[in-house]
Amino acid sequence: MSAEADVKLQDFENIFKLDGKVAVVTGGSRGLGLHAASGLLQAGCSQVYITSRKASGCEQAVLALNALPNKQPHAVAISVPADLSKVSEIERLAAEIGKQTPHIDILFANAGATWGERFETHPEPAFSKVMDLNVKSVFYTIQKLEPLLPARAPAAAIHLTKNLAVELAPRHILCNAIAPGFYPSKMANGLMELEGGEEKLAQMSPNQRLGHPEDVAGLVVFLASRAAAHLNGTVIATDGGAVLARGRL
Ligand SMILES: NC(=O)c1ccc[n+]([C@@H]2O[C@H](COP(=O)([O-])OP(=O)(O)OC[C@H]3O[C@@H](n4cnc5c(N)ncnc54)[C@H](OP(=O)(O)O)[C@@H]3O)[C@@H](O)[C@H]2O)c1
Repeated sequence: MSAEADVKLQDFENIFKLDGKVAVVTGGSRGLGLHAASGLLQAGCSQVYITSRKASGCEQAVLALNALPNKQPHAVAISVPADLSKVSEIERLAAEIGKQTPHIDILFANAGATWGERFETHPEPAFSKVMDLNVKSVFYTIQKLEPLLPARAPAAAIHLTKNLAVELAPRHILCNAIAPGFYPSKMANGLMELEGGEEKLAQMSPNQRLGHPEDVAGLVVFLASRAAAHLNGTVIATDGGAVLARGRL
């Protein structure tokens, strides 16, 4: 093939654009989910559904997202509160979203919790709570929303990525995971204190800093875009190389 033919990339100027796409962000009321929802709207999504347990948190997030000056004119963020630790609530979430849109293009299964407790004294109900939300609910969120995701675009999921990538790719659904290092958030702030505080953790990272909102927003937009159309089953660390440096410091 000639060099002239080789440089003709298909519609390259729009490769990161998400114009008209419909996204769902779980745990979208704050932290990484809210950063991602903001990025998705600013990259062109026409609808971004956000969900978390507290209706007030979802409403506040939606107000802030809908006030973004550079989203598309008719683009909207929509709040659908649900407790995703319960499968019945995930089913209700899927049904509520299904009433408002015939399909979704992007699913960021991000809702998660942690429990700051020592190994020796970690209570069993806390273990169940974290596993129910961080593992089981990711699987059931994808299972219950999958009918709305037919033959569309990439989905980003945190756990179960490799198995689901193989299972769902024949249905034209791609599954990739994001493995964040420390990003300041309600969840992470307590853990960061236990680990020595923001400044110390930033210094321990090869790039000398913690995650910024744009870092996760940009990565989610990339994974949701045509630029990532051949990524499936990958786990992308967004940590400035911190995990590689662990043990050396
Ligand atoms: N920040 C970091 O440094 C970091 C590092 C590695 C991994 N992560 C992962 O990134 C994800 C987001 O973390 P974050 O730091 O942004 O945490 P965060 O600030 O605590 O936000 C968590 C979000 O999940 C929602 N949520 C919690 N329990 C829920 C439930 N049962 N059902 C539905 N929504 C629920 C919360 O809203 P409600 O309280 O209203 O439900 C909130 O919107 C988590 O999966 C976490 O494990 C974060």
